[in-house]
Amino acid sequence: MKLHEFPRHPLTFGPSPLQHLERLSRHLGGAQVWAKREDVNSGLAFGGNKVRKLEYIVPDILASGADTIVSIGGYQSNHTRQVAAVAAHLGLKARLVQEKWVPWGDPTNDQVGNILLSRMMGADSRLDDAGFDIGIRDSWKQALAEVEAAGGTPYPIPAGASEHPLGGLGFANWAFEVAEQEKQLGVFFDTIVVCTVTGSTHAGMIAGFAALEELTGVKRRVLGIDASATLEKTRDQVARIARRTAELIELGRDVRDDEIQVLEGWAGELYGIPVDSTMEAMALGAQLEAMITDPVYEGKSLAGLIDLVRSGDIPASSTVLYAHLGGQPAINAYHALWDPAGA
Ligand SMILES: Cc1ncc(COP(=O)(O)O)c(C=O)c1O
Repeated sequence: MKLHEFPRHPLTFGPSPLQHLERLSRHLGGAQVWAKREDVNSGLAFGGNKVRKLEYIVPDILASGADTIVSIGGYQSNHTRQVAAVAAHLGLKARLVQEKWVPWGDPTNDQVGNILLSRMMGADSRLDDAGFDIGIRDSWKQALAEVEAAGGTPYPIPAGASEHPLGGLGFANWAFEVAEQEKQLGVFFDTIVVCTVTGSTHAGMIAGFAALEELTGVKRRVLGIDASATLEKTRDQVARIARRTAELIELGRDVRDDEIQVLEGWAGELYGIPVDSTMEAMALGAQLEAMITDPVYEGKSLAGLIDLVRSGDIPASSTVLYAHLGGQPAINAYHALWDPAGA
């Protein structure tokens, strides 16, 4: 099937806004930097990249007759918060496994931000001690079995919706949305910068921009900035999902290796723990543009973009698009980072 033939259940406001980050561009003194704002893409509990992925998964959920969506993430998972939001919106239940993905000392880490919102929206959110892993987990399979044993009909969505067969479609479509907006605004983004962890956001973009390249002959760089700190797993997952999504939308050729670029250098030692470059990027985004980023994902990808522009790897002649994927609710669990009394 071609991409436009897949059923899509609208959950977003429409195309997400594009914004020229003029003060940040001037400060960096190189490429022109724009942002596409998935952090304001929907009215469902602050939106984010998962809402876009879920637009292509909801038709399958509804067709399945399920009454409970079962998913998994960290305590401060944006993904599970968006699953809870979509479940509430559809009148379904959500059962969430929340693992201790980040060894972060904030005593409210499992109480505020994303997890608070999920609970407020009625999700059955249960804590699990397991650490960070983007793979398929036994605790999640267990939760599915428990829902079934209690007489419910579960619908499984793995971490980040990435291993879901339709998980890449939302951001494949994003590529076509960008192309449409470029026409309207008279700009061309030769480089896209996106945070990658469970992989289907970046992978979907790779498949989508490859499909656009087939139509127009125009190439661009889609740079994934690793924030998992488990680089090889994320790289493998991005490649696998990009190829799966490309096949699904009938790209008609293989995804080339040079189209799959997951860059390291900004994740730090551990998923979820900010490093100096994350803090600088968060401060620059906030203080120059009032663009709020989080220390887990978007602060790290913004740090990558800033360094690539400063080093000239993204040249001054470029117009670069930063995909802001959301994630702000988690900053509540990181308040010590900005507490004048110190962390
Ligand atoms: C705010 C934010 N940015 C980036 C990502 C990474 O996206 P993906 O898991 O599709 O690689 C996520 C989710 O994992 C996220 O919540």
